[in-house]
Amino acid sequence: MNKEEIIKRMQELAEQIEEHNYRYYVLDKPTISDYEFDKLLEELQHLEKQYPDLVLPNSPTQRVGGTITKIFPTVKHQYPMLSLSNTYSIEELNEFDRREKELLELPLHHKVEYVCELKIDGLSISLIYENGLLVRAVTRGDGIQGDDVTTNAKTIRSIPLKLKGNYLKKFEVRGEIFMPIKVFEKLNKEREEVGDEPFANPRNAASGTMKLQDSSEVAKRHLDAFLYYLLSDELPYSTHWESLKHLKEWGFKVNENTELCHGIDEVKRYIEKWEDKRWHLPYETDGVVVKVNDLKYQKTLGNTAKSPRWAVAFKYKPEQATTQLLSISYQVGRTGVVTPVANLEPVLLAGTKVKRASLHNADIIEKLDLHEHDYVIVEKGGEIIPKIVGVDKSKRTLFSHKIKFITHCPECGTKLVRNEDEAAYYCPNEFGCRPQIIGKIVHFVSRKAMDIQSLGEETIELLYNHHLIKNVADLYELKVEQIVPLERMGEKSAQNIINGIEESKKRPFERVLFGLGIRHVGETLAKKIARNAGSIECLQQMSEEELMQIEDVGETIAHSIKDFFSKKQNIELIERLKKHGLQFEIEKNFHQSDKLKGLTIVISGTFKRWSRDELKELIERNGGKNTSSVSKKTSFLLAGEDPGPEKMKKARELGVKILNEEEFAKVVS
Ligand code: IVH
Repeated sequence: MNKEEIIKRMQELAEQIEEHNYRYYVLDKPTISDYEFDKLLEELQHLEKQYPDLVLPNSPTQRVGGTITKIFPTVKHQYPMLSLSNTYSIEELNEFDRREKELLELPLHHKVEYVCELKIDGLSISLIYENGLLVRAVTRGDGIQGDDVTTNAKTIRSIPLKLKGNYLKKFEVRGEIFMPIKVFEKLNKEREEVGDEPFANPRNAASGTMKLQDSSEVAKRHLDAFLYYLLSDELPYSTHWESLKHLKEWGFKVNENTELCHGIDEVKRYIEKWEDKRWHLPYETDGVVVKVNDLKYQKTLGNTAKSPRWAVAFKYKPEQATTQLLSISYQVGRTGVVTPVANLEPVLLAGTKVKRASLHNADIIEKLDLHEHDYVIVEKGGEIIPKIVGVDKSKRTLFSHKIKFITHCPECGTKLVRNEDEAAYYCPNEFGCRPQIIGKIVHFVSRKAMDIQSLGEETIELLYNHHLIKNVADLYELKVEQIVPLERMGEKSAQNIINGIEESKKRPFERVLFGLGIRHVGETLAKKIARNAGSIECLQQMSEEELMQIEDVGETIAHSIKDFFSKKQNIELIERLKKHGLQFEIEKNFHQSDKLKGLTIVISGTFKRWSRDELKELIERNGGKNTSSVSKKTSFLLAGEDPGPEKMKKARELGVKILNEEEFAKVVS
């Protein structure tokens, strides 16, 4: 292919990929398989790697992320981002309608046109488009200025990078970034599994995600966005409804439940309709936003200092019910964390029967001042299990006792402990407490770790109950004839299990490391740690300070790793696993050369030839170490385009060498 043909092919691919993104994430109507989609993306990624100078602006390859943002620059909003005034009752809504007519000097019987939209519970975002390309994404901040989160926003597949149709040359569009409920529940489950604190609700999870420094991590969190407000110096449209129609045409995801209402009575019907229906949506909503449709009217009405006069939020009363607390169960997880769950007298809440409520930890019980047999107020959020938000103290009997968090493990009787700065109590008997032993084995065989599909939780329990396994090394000593006689087993299923276990010996080091279940070490972190350390021996020898040089490893995690290796049971376990042939160092072919051996390299800025992740991998493949901050120990600073000024300054001050992309390419070529 000559240069023109390459450019043409890259354009074609980018367009096709974005069109399929749009069909999948905006229209929810994909027309090709995931496999076919991945093929297109791979082809484009391949071409971009070969011809880095020809990479198109806003190429869809940016959606997978890879850029690290250490500090999000502050940006002033062109139009301040106001909030909405709230109403909680139909009377207040009538009052809003009456006032609008008064200010607009319309007769009282006039039916004002309103657009009703669901109020999405996420974080607001401002997107700037110029000549059809997304140029900037900024958070609300204090309304006057917010954080530039463009690289993270680009990973959200429903936010168009390039517009279609007859779009305005320059405009701003605002909307809400949110985390779908299913994604939120999966994320929290994963967090709890590695001993991380779960997010309180999808909104916190979404805003926490947008603050992540590694955009490839943001990409994995599957955020979504609805857009609802178009702003421009000269809008050629006369109504908000028309603006929304155009936003849709240009490729934005506009909520399909938006309706045009004639007069306040239709607004009320919309509000009533969604009061229950909203619980069946895949995202959280907390009300309805009512906006005057006519843009001329909007202009006349104007804004107060805090909010526009032409719009109002109707907030639904939180769905609550009162019921009696029957008892509290305590569940012990894989990491030993004890989670209290309230068992309740069944009660109907937003159409579902509730029997249990989550209490999360001891602090929450304390804060609620929960007593035995209390009548508690449960509230429905987006999640399946509701929360206890209060206690009806008037119904408390004189002699009821305050609930005291258990002091000993309900499973093994060991005294519970609590770490400083942590809300959770946990059972320290990690090698002798049944749910912890089983949980660890279940984690080890799970899909993202050793992926032994022939071993499910039930089989693991069965093997444990028959004293055949009590840790993951025991798995590799199992024999077919030991399994055959067990319940529901036979020659074939036993052989299947053994084959699966045997096969797992091929899993790479990073998966084994993740499988070991070190507290706070999730899948992605295990990968980073494995690549950095190179082998389990090196990892074991690293000091907390050295560990903290690895990206995303802070004090808690470094401490947790050291703690893991300080236990002789873990060392013995690793020795046995090694003897059985599991992988405890990074793949041999991962190692390319020793050209960077012993060198500690800091990366800054963006590069033509490589993404951040690729560069890091390249450094590691050539025996070097990548760290995040410049110090005396840094061998050189690899500076791409727009390197961080702080890093450059520090390097100059300390006399650390600075290499550009070309110079570095020569070193590793
Ligand atoms: S319009 C000037 N429409 O609610 C009007 N806001 O309490 C700007 N929100 O900051 C807001 N869904 O983050 C609008 N359909 C919707 C919305 C919505 C959620 C959020 C938004 C805003 C907050 C105001």
